[in-house]
Amino acid sequence: MNHNKESDKIIDISNRINSKRDRKIPGNKGKKKNTRVIAVTSGKGGVGKTNIVANLGIAFSRLGKDVMALDADLGLGNLDVLLGLTPKYNLSHVIMGEKEITEIILNGPENIKIIPASSGIQELTHLTTDQKVRILTQLDLLIDSVDILLIDTAAGISANVMDFNMIAHEIMVVVTPEPTSLTDAYALMKVLSMKYMKKHCKLMVNLARSMQEGYEISRQLSLVADRFLEISVEYVGCILFDEKVTQCVKRQKMVSELYPDTSASRCFSALAEKVSTSPFFKTPIGDSNLFWEHLVGN
Ligand SMILES: Nc1ncnc2c1ncn2[C@@H]1O[C@H](COP(=O)(O)OP(=O)(O)O)[C@@H](O)[C@H]1O
Ligand SMILES: [Mg+2]
Repeated sequence: MNHNKESDKIIDISNRINSKRDRKIPGNKGKKKNTRVIAVTSGKGGVGKTNIVANLGIAFSRLGKDVMALDADLGLGNLDVLLGLTPKYNLSHVIMGEKEITEIILNGPENIKIIPASSGIQELTHLTTDQKVRILTQLDLLIDSVDILLIDTAAGISANVMDFNMIAHEIMVVVTPEPTSLTDAYALMKVLSMKYMKKHCKLMVNLARSMQEGYEISRQLSLVADRFLEISVEYVGCILFDEKVTQCVKRQKMVSELYPDTSASRCFSALAEKVSTSPFFKTPIGDSNLFWEHLVGN
């Protein structure tokens, strides 16, 4: 699709959305401004992204924020499983045009709103432009309904992952102390910086054995990224390895809910506090066209 055609299509959809703005979103207390969109992503899989999104969501909610978590792992989504939810419909129905996004939102722990993804539909790992327009159009309906939208991306550097990273205000890269996780994070930062012109990201170290280890890892990665990739890496903190996390995963509960005082839960609280008090930059592009800018830009 060429640029003009795509822009026309987007403007057309945007007008239609604006005429439907009064649609009620379950649990929505009203339109908010300045929704902060944070993508949680990683080079390597299994580093703890989904756990981080869920627990950070709870921690933000406890700080009085309205939070929504989007499962953007379209091929292998499992945020719903982690939370013990059994959705009837998910993003695949939205992408296929069978459901509106407002119809698939679930209530998660501590009032977090959850948008579940599907699992096992391989085609969804490579969305067509029309499907992208549809999903972003639908997301745009929600963008001003919460204070914080957390996006749980798939791992890696595929176009799908990058699309979701690009629509976020902040990209939070998760690493663990494993060398493979670090090299994959470096590769991800390289693509962000060189191909997508993102010159800043946040870094979180999961499964750290001590605060010192988390800090050391972030220092090393920041140094090489700064030197070779022209990307500045801001360390936001670490989550300690905590057996309670695994125990809770098995029970489909979140550690922040069951054990608010365990070491990992304290890390999540500290992290939420830190992120929510740090300023974030919202591109001044009008009312709620965060997603359009990305699509037109493409
Ligand atoms: N801080 C932690 N301490 C102990 N185990 C953890 C921690 N974070 C994650 N895990 C374990 O790692 C597994 C994978 O996490 P998950 O969030 O599914 O990763 P990803 O979404 O990146 O693939 C979890 O099921 C959990 O058992
Ligand atoms: Mg995951």
